[in-house]
Amino acid sequence: MPSLPPEGDPAPLDGSLPVDALTTLGSRPFGFYVHVPFCSTRCGYCDFNTYTADELGPGASRASYVDQAVAEVRMARRVLGDVDLPVETVFVGGGTPTLLPPGDLGRILAAIRDEFGLARGAEVTSEANPDSVTAASLAALRDDGFTRMSFGLQSTAPHVLQVLDRTHTPGRAVDAVHEARAVGFEHVNVDLIYATPGETEADFAASLQAAADSGADHVSAYSLIVEDGTRLAARIRRGELPDVDDDVAADRYLQADSALTAAGLDWYEVSNWARPGAECRHNLGYWRGDDWWGVGPGAHAHVGGVRWWNVRHPVAYAARILVGESPAQAREQLSAEDRRVEDVLLRVRLHEGLPLAMLTNAGRMVAADAVRDGLAEQSAYDEGRVRLTLRGRLLADALVRDLVD
Ligand SMILES: C[S@@+](CC[C@H](N)C(=O)[O-])C[C@H]1O[C@@H](n2cnc3c(N)ncnc32)[C@H](O)[C@@H]1O
Ligand code: SF4
Repeated sequence: MPSLPPEGDPAPLDGSLPVDALTTLGSRPFGFYVHVPFCSTRCGYCDFNTYTADELGPGASRASYVDQAVAEVRMARRVLGDVDLPVETVFVGGGTPTLLPPGDLGRILAAIRDEFGLARGAEVTSEANPDSVTAASLAALRDDGFTRMSFGLQSTAPHVLQVLDRTHTPGRAVDAVHEARAVGFEHVNVDLIYATPGETEADFAASLQAAADSGADHVSAYSLIVEDGTRLAARIRRGELPDVDDDVAADRYLQADSALTAAGLDWYEVSNWARPGAECRHNLGYWRGDDWWGVGPGAHAHVGGVRWWNVRHPVAYAARILVGESPAQAREQLSAEDRRVEDVLLRVRLHEGLPLAMLTNAGRMVAADAVRDGLAEQSAYDEGRVRLTLRGRLLADALVRDLVD
């Protein structure tokens, strides 16, 4: 999620959407993202929309959040009308959702179930910092209907976790995966961060091995991004830490792909690997341009070509909800061309590949050059698509810009 949303157009205070946006509702999978904007401490690299208890200020609290989120789910039902819209995926992210008692997360899920109904086999994920769960709290989430956990493992090297300001030990993340499996979670993801200053190839090899051996069936691995305004950025600027090295990051990506593939996890998006069938359906929905409602401070939503985003601060969010107003800060209506460009940017990163029909003539020529240069290939199962090669995945960001220029 970008740190600063675009400016956009005003959003109506009753939350209503243009009629056009509602006409195709139900023709694509529909999901909920629920943002829980709380963390016990802030990791030095992270610029997510999240607040420690000290940063919250009067007017918002962890304890009152559940009622506000439930109120927004009910508002979603009023805005979307009574069309049959079983929810295919729910993703509770943060922040650290598991700082709330499991019963609160269960109540939000129950509100979604009561208002919309869950589709058969719905995927229901919660993110968690490994030291914010116990075997008992995981069992409670499972009982309430959560099917998938996503833990921030990041690294197994203590000195790397220290640079990242992580509060958990390396072992705690692996134990959390075991506990989640033991209480019956169908799917478990672990997040890894690579190319942290001071991380060696051997450190990352050990992290990959731990992730593969943990019982997780999904791994997301991202190069450390030095976000402006974070403590990490300040430390690098002061010369206390070296900057992230792009060549090292590229080597680590190759290392990740090789280790995870060997462990039976295949890439399905540039930064995501899964056992076949364990791909994150919720994230696939974002990448394929499906519809979802975003609940909570700063949450983004997309329905039928209209995108909107909520006010960022929990106090501003609470104030809107308390008077029955929509928390949307602004919105934008995407033109057909905007949607095409966005679709290309996201789909080209998927293993399923990019349909060539989505490209302009100029874009097709860029794709043909990419195939000639070994950055992409015509996928074997569908001649009408191009898919990135391993080298293409390394250069994905530059390539996608050229495809839509
Ligand atoms: C909301 S957090 C996950 C849940 C929980 N808050 C945690 O950290 O364990 C989502 C993930 O974003 C990733 N992330 C956040 N900031 C990042 C950055 N600057 N560079 C790379 N990855 C980042 C981390 O891997 C983190 O696990
Ligand atoms: S625990 Fe997760 S969301 Fe919270 S500050 Fe750390 S990385 Fe960011």
